[in-house]
Amino acid sequence: MVFTSIAQFIAPYLGTMRPNLLLIHGFPLDHTLWNANVEELGRVATVIAPDLLGFGENGSDPGTRTMESFAEQLRALLDHHHLQRVVLCGLSMGGYVALAFAERWPDRVEALILCNTRSTADTEEAKAGREATANDAVEKGSAVIARAMVQKVLGPTTRRDHPDRVAQVENMIARQDPQAIAAASRGMALRPDRTHVLAALTVPVLIITGDADALMPLPTSLAMADAALGAQLVVLSNAGHLSNLEAPEQFNATVMEFLKAMPGA
Ligand code: MLT
Repeated sequence: MVFTSIAQFIAPYLGTMRPNLLLIHGFPLDHTLWNANVEELGRVATVIAPDLLGFGENGSDPGTRTMESFAEQLRALLDHHHLQRVVLCGLSMGGYVALAFAERWPDRVEALILCNTRSTADTEEAKAGREATANDAVEKGSAVIARAMVQKVLGPTTRRDHPDRVAQVENMIARQDPQAIAAASRGMALRPDRTHVLAALTVPVLIITGDADALMPLPTSLAMADAALGAQLVVLSNAGHLSNLEAPEQFNATVMEFLKAMPGA
């Protein structure tokens, strides 16, 4: 497997005592979701921001792509770089992948940061929506998905005040492979409830969301914070579903504070 797109984000600190921070992007995005975060977070951690299979520069992906298979991709990536333990930070679908990873390899998780995500499975209605998205992606193309999604994933403040960020997200979605969008959409529908994974974790957990996230309303984050013993919940202001991109200063400060407070930091 080739992970070309991460090379630029592996800081020259592999193997030191700095935490390794694995940033896992959401759907249907790629590693550039983290453009406003990697440099700042790289001051305190070794940041790894890969493209999940099928997305960005990581090839085409027909079929169904489960969260478990993305987690397996990430485990192989960590093995390749001889990284034993990492802080997993996943946004939305990236959070589903982080939980799938933590379920299978809990001893490799130093801490968990879940952003704008949920630990529960899809409802039957949501599963039907996934199939419709998959079909739309293949039949109508990624640009159509991008136009529709950008209205939902970004909060009103971003849409009003940051046309550059709106364009960044729309372009990011529009350039993704329709087959990869369909594969991940179908894969998300198959994921089980992983609230028990959160409840079993003994490592620090940070939950981040945005006050204007229309896709993952606050109760989903509150439920995760309740499930994970000692979890910290931070709600960023004027941020929608892509809180790291919409409120990068608040996001970076929150994650950096969390990393600095980790045992052994
Ligand atoms: C994401 O941002 O990854 C998606 O909104 C996740 C989802 O559709 O459940």
